[in-house]
Amino acid sequence: MNVNTPAVRAWNGFAQKAEPRRSVNAAGAITWLNWTQYPDHGPDETVLGPVEGKRVVELGSGAGANLAHLATLGARCVGVDLAPVRTVNATAAWGHLPNLEFVTVDAVDHLAANPGRYDIAYSIFGAVWFTEPEVLLPLVRQALTPGGILAFSQLPADDTPPPPHQQITRQHLPVSRWRAVLTAAGFGRIDCELIPPPAENETGTVLIRAVAV
Ligand SMILES: C[S@@+](CC[C@H](N)C(=O)[O-])C[C@H]1O[C@@H](n2cnc3c(N)ncnc32)[C@H](O)[C@@H]1O
Repeated sequence: MNVNTPAVRAWNGFAQKAEPRRSVNAAGAITWLNWTQYPDHGPDETVLGPVEGKRVVELGSGAGANLAHLATLGARCVGVDLAPVRTVNATAAWGHLPNLEFVTVDAVDHLAANPGRYDIAYSIFGAVWFTEPEVLLPLVRQALTPGGILAFSQLPADDTPPPPHQQITRQHLPVSRWRAVLTAAGFGRIDCELIPPPAENETGTVLIRAVAV
């Protein structure tokens, strides 16, 4: 992978500034999965169905803490992230767990190279939010077995234009558009949910789940 593109440099810079997640959550757990931008808020990993023994890929796995939780539940996990700093830090934090590896690669390239490898693909404010869906979603479908699950979360679409000269583009699609692109890519049973924020004046979280048909 070319690690000297503007996007990789931008994401590496972001990774260098990222604070690690708390080591214990409000329930006293040392691993957990959180779909939202708020601590101790929203649904947990059950959105993905049973994960024990399942082959799981996280697209844009960041610090790796969410994926580490799935590994503790018996999933066979691969975290892909295009920022090399993420792979180093996630491996240092969680590499001792069995059935868990982190790889520096663009999600597009990884999915294209691994048809039929996974039962579950997910992204939490990750590669699905930052990659053209017409490119990424057919590759996710190809990398999943029939009946496989894709789930992803991110901020809801709004009308704010992106700042000029951005290296990173958010895919701020309305839910109707996500449904259309998912259907065209070979997904069905599409559920789109807006997880309400913890307080009234805050922003909610879009969570989308679909099944490979
Ligand atoms: C906002 S962070 C979220 C990280 C993590 N999912 C979390 O919830 O903490 C987005 C992550 O996606 C990664 N990313 C963005 N585009 C990607 C792509 N095309 N392929 C792989 N990783 C990507 C970035 O490097 C970054 O680590």
